Amino acid sequence: MPSLAKTLPNGQPQNQKAVLRIENLHTWFEIRRMGFFKAGDVRALDGATFELYEGETISIVGESGCGKSTLAKTILGINHITKGSIFFEDQDLSTLDKEGWKRYRSAIGYIQQDPYGALPPFMTVQRILEEPMKINGITDRAEQKKRIRQVLEEVKLAPIEDFLPKFPHMLSGGQQQRLVIARAMILDPKMLIADEPVSMLDASVRVEILQLLQALQRRHNLAILYITHDLSTVRYFSERIFAMYGGKIIEKSSTTGLLEKPLHPYTAALFEATSDPDVENLHSFKDVPAGEPPSLLNPPPGCRFHPRCKKMIKGLCDQQMPPEIWVHEDHAAACWLYKDQA
Ligand SMILES: Nc1ncnc2c1ncn2[C@@H]1O[C@H](COP(=O)(O)OP(=O)(O)O)[C@@H](O)[C@H]1O
Ligand code: SF4
Ligand SMILES: [Mg+2]
Repeated sequence: MPSLAKTLPNGQPQNQKAVLRIENLHTWFEIRRMGFFKAGDVRALDGATFELYEGETISIVGESGCGKSTLAKTILGINHITKGSIFFEDQDLSTLDKEGWKRYRSAIGYIQQDPYGALPPFMTVQRILEEPMKINGITDRAEQKKRIRQVLEEVKLAPIEDFLPKFPHMLSGGQQQRLVIARAMILDPKMLIADEPVSMLDASVRVEILQLLQALQRRHNLAILYITHDLSTVRYFSERIFAMYGGKIIEKSSTTGLLEKPLHPYTAALFEATSDPDVENLHSFKDVPAGEPPSLLNPPPGCRFHPRCKKMIKGLCDQQMPPEIWVHEDHAAACWLYKDQA
């Protein structure tokens, strides 16, 4: 895998207009025994608050099962909100009617982990790209053609005429993901949610796809939520990094601040485990902190990381949930180690 450091310059967002605002967002999944008795809730997302700005990428990192996709799907309206709010361009999603939801969905592009699974197998590239336009009332043939040509050029599926009649299985994994990105871009969205967009692709095409996303972001001033468990990519592809653990965002930082000094013991352990200076040698989460991720059905009391934390303060960490503490202007951690700075 070529070095991302050389290929993805680390731009900072100039514009500070929030596209997305998440307030105290909870998504719990009810578990029923024998389909009847309530056995409890899986607290997959348990109180997230943040803003995503125009032209900015936030990377969300964390081990498998920590709630990253739940966050993505809740923003996309696939999961129901248990508690809390989502605002898109200052509009509370809970106030949207059917038309409002349609407009909202057309303003966000979704890129999933498995491009093949995301594409309808019996539709050609042309139909796949026409579909969202039809649904959103863009029926003028000339306009459809113009948009298809434009997005295929942008995602570099060329020559365009060769690709239009192809079915997804006729494309390579990288080409399939380019098509998914083209579909996500066809309605000219304001925000992209990319959930592990390169983790199922060959290492050789990962950088190309990330570069493509970054180029699109710059050209269209997109806000991007980039979800990944691959720490080797986040440092070159985001303005801010948030770490999740057990359904909670436990650290929020500018990318530079986090790389200089992670504050939360969990994030520190993650980045220590991937601190090989040669990016080509990085493997995500090769040495995550010892122990199991917490049960989200019966999460441990206090800090959810305490059973695995070497710095655990007895009588505090195992009893009280740490609040989010802003240790620096651009860097917060939910950890009792910083209680004097609260
Ligand atoms: N629809 C669902 N019903 C019940 N549990 C779910 C559902 N979706 C996700 N979960 C659970 O929520 C937790 C977080 O999952 P997920 O958000 O997919 O994590 P990640 O994307 O970080 O790997 C997991 O324990 C998962 O099993
Ligand atoms: S709050 Fe305590 S247990 Fe949790 S990460 Fe901080 S020191 Fe470790
Ligand atoms: Mg996931």
